[in-house]
Amino acid sequence: MRATLSVPATSANLGPGFDAFGLALDLCNDVTISTDETPAITWEGEGADELATDGSDLVSHTMATVAARMGLELPGVSMHGVNRIPLARGLGSSSAAAVAGVVLASLVLDLGIHDDPGGVFSLAAEIEGHPDNAAPAAYGGFTIASGDGAVCRLDPHPDLRPVALVPDVRLPTAEARAALPETVTLADAVFNVAHAALVVEALTRDPSLLRTVLRDRLHQDARLALVPDVREVFDELQRRHVPVCVSGAGPTLLAFAMNDTPPITQAVLGGSGAWRIWPLRARAEGFSIDG
Ligand code: HSE
Repeated sequence: MRATLSVPATSANLGPGFDAFGLALDLCNDVTISTDETPAITWEGEGADELATDGSDLVSHTMATVAARMGLELPGVSMHGVNRIPLARGLGSSSAAAVAGVVLASLVLDLGIHDDPGGVFSLAAEIEGHPDNAAPAAYGGFTIASGDGAVCRLDPHPDLRPVALVPDVRLPTAEARAALPETVTLADAVFNVAHAALVVEALTRDPSLLRTVLRDRLHQDARLALVPDVREVFDELQRRHVPVCVSGAGPTLLAFAMNDTPPITQAVLGGSGAWRIWPLRARAEGFSIDG
């Protein structure tokens, strides 16, 4: 058996939709697996030098977890990963790895889970812990995950032009979560409820709303305080009326290119060459299997 799997990057939260919203992006990790070759694990691309090759990486760990739950033993596999999603930047690399692990375990053990995005989502979210990233990686599109199992997928508007702005610093999710306040005011909660509902309208029906609705009072300020250079760029984009939010737990920013806002260039980001600017598209599909 030999197959190649693609799993998309995902941007969680989308401003006010903290821990619930997620958008699949057309930036994918590919993993090729074979049960007919000498068992080995190799990586290329983002983080290739630091990812384990002894079976303790998140893809292999997830495969082993799924197999153990089914009471089955995994055969030795040859696995080669091509990583395009940067690690620890807020673009869902861990959820992509968990989704890959669930799908690959299903393929190798012939479990049939890979035919069911809902089954892949449930297992990956439980194993990795972030349903708002696992949902778009499994279903594609724009997803709303409640955290208690409910999930819905909506078609992103075709005119959306997300741009990932990836700084040259990392922010582990645990650190970005530890910075959050334990309680919020009723006024801030109400603000986020209203804006989250408006973001659904903006992402699915009327992208022109993005400029005014992509606002949050629950998590972004606390996270941006951890990365002052990113805060500066965030503020500069807002001054230029470019819709922008923190992607997942950060530090990547997700901006949206609009017809009437300035193009997002290195100059706008303060002339620093340390940022990568990736114009992307929303991806309609979640994971896909070739072979
Ligand atoms: N919603 C999660 C957070 C996403 O913001 O911490 C983590 O990838």
